[in-house]
Amino acid sequence: MQLMMTLTATASIIVTIDGPAGTGKSTVASSLARRLGLEFLDTGAMYRAIAWRALEKSIDPRDAAAVAALALRSTLRFDWKVDPPELFIDGCACGESIRTPEVTAAVAIIACNLEVRRAMVRQQRAIAAAHPRLVTEGRDQGSAVFPDATVRIYLDAAPEIRARRRAEQLRAKGVNIEAEIILQSILSRDASDRARSEGPLVRPEGADVVDTGDLDVERVVDALEAIVRIRAGAMYELPAHIESAVDDGEAP
Ligand code: DC
Repeated sequence: MQLMMTLTATASIIVTIDGPAGTGKSTVASSLARRLGLEFLDTGAMYRAIAWRALEKSIDPRDAAAVAALALRSTLRFDWKVDPPELFIDGCACGESIRTPEVTAAVAIIACNLEVRRAMVRQQRAIAAAHPRLVTEGRDQGSAVFPDATVRIYLDAAPEIRARRRAEQLRAKGVNIEAEIILQSILSRDASDRARSEGPLVRPEGADVVDTGDLDVERVVDALEAIVRIRAGAMYELPAHIESAVDDGEAP
């Protein structure tokens, strides 16, 4: 059942959603934010924007000093008036340019750059200070960036299931890539996300874990909404019929 909730106008709330590539984080995080009337922060897009800019300027992603200098002087800004929010880097709209295979390969290297991570974390915290009603999605949001967030969620799914989903998405776009090749790419991204010294992908201690393997998108969002309602219940005004069901100790 879809629960309808209204967040009290003044309350601030940060919901973090972390997990490996291919768990559907961006889709469910943006849908959850819409349902709850919160804003959505796609932190992967921020790393992608730096990688895109580096490639455009012919900076080698492995040139740590040059990429760090680029990250430090770049201004990232989201336009929250459109849905999903549009990311700009130094005034340029990123659009789909940050989703190409070249950017995906470069960003895996750039995301291990200590100075780049520190610059991104600073900007993410500044964004949260200005937009304190936020669903933020990435790899390190609940563990390192917002360890005191109201709700921290970790999404997971077996690599084979994530690879199958990615293959289906690509097929729908007319791109046929063998599932085995996609699986190898997912395993290599997992390894690189988990191995870096700063902000590695980890399940934040005390986070709620949702395995998305057997669930479609709507069911995942239902589960996340229920978690937020339980964890942040006091901050929500529930419709009367749900309130009374909860008071009676019944499942809503
Ligand atoms: O979720 P995504 O595929 O758009 O992420 C792009 C890259 O950025 C990926 O290599 C993981 C990395 N990333 C990260 O290191 N920390 C985050 N908070 C978000 C993404």
